[in-house]
Amino acid sequence: MNTVSFNVNGQSHRLDLDTRTTLLDALREHLHFTGTKKGCDHGQCGACTVIVEGRRINSCLSLAMMHEGDRITTIEGLGDPDHLHPMQTAFIKHDGFQCGYCTPGQICSAVAVLDEVKAGIPSHVSENLLDHPQPTNMEMRERMSGNICRCGAYSNIAEAMAEVAGRTL
Ligand code: FES
Ligand code: FES
Repeated sequence: MNTVSFNVNGQSHRLDLDTRTTLLDALREHLHFTGTKKGCDHGQCGACTVIVEGRRINSCLSLAMMHEGDRITTIEGLGDPDHLHPMQTAFIKHDGFQCGYCTPGQICSAVAVLDEVKAGIPSHVSENLLDHPQPTNMEMRERMSGNICRCGAYSNIAEAMAEVAGRTL
């Protein structure tokens, strides 16, 4: 057992955990932020995506102990039913989900993707690595490729992201 402290959705938490506990299990089983989903538990589906210090990570692949002092945002921290995040509103408007299981991870990833683009970070499909990337359909699909949706809502997710990015596809 060891102690770790981090901030989740604006609140500080201190946990005594088995050192093998993943961040995903710490969030779901110990802090009861069950919005973050466990799909594969192997880094292959993106259902467990959360935002840590402004960057998205697969929380199933990260040990909770590695996040001492970190600022973590889960889907519960992005918005609530009365005050939705613009990305949540856009997902609803564009039908960016069916069963909804992948959706918290998709939304956390989508928010971080637009921040990556805004910060000028290129991807594998950016035409010019020295130019500021644009939030094109191709850029968004490439950057979201780690978030799998069994229901196949990909086109609608891309439309939702385009709306938040201020573009039309
Ligand atoms: Fe983490 Fe699938 S549960 S990537
Ligand atoms: Fe069902 Fe994506 S909405 S898996």
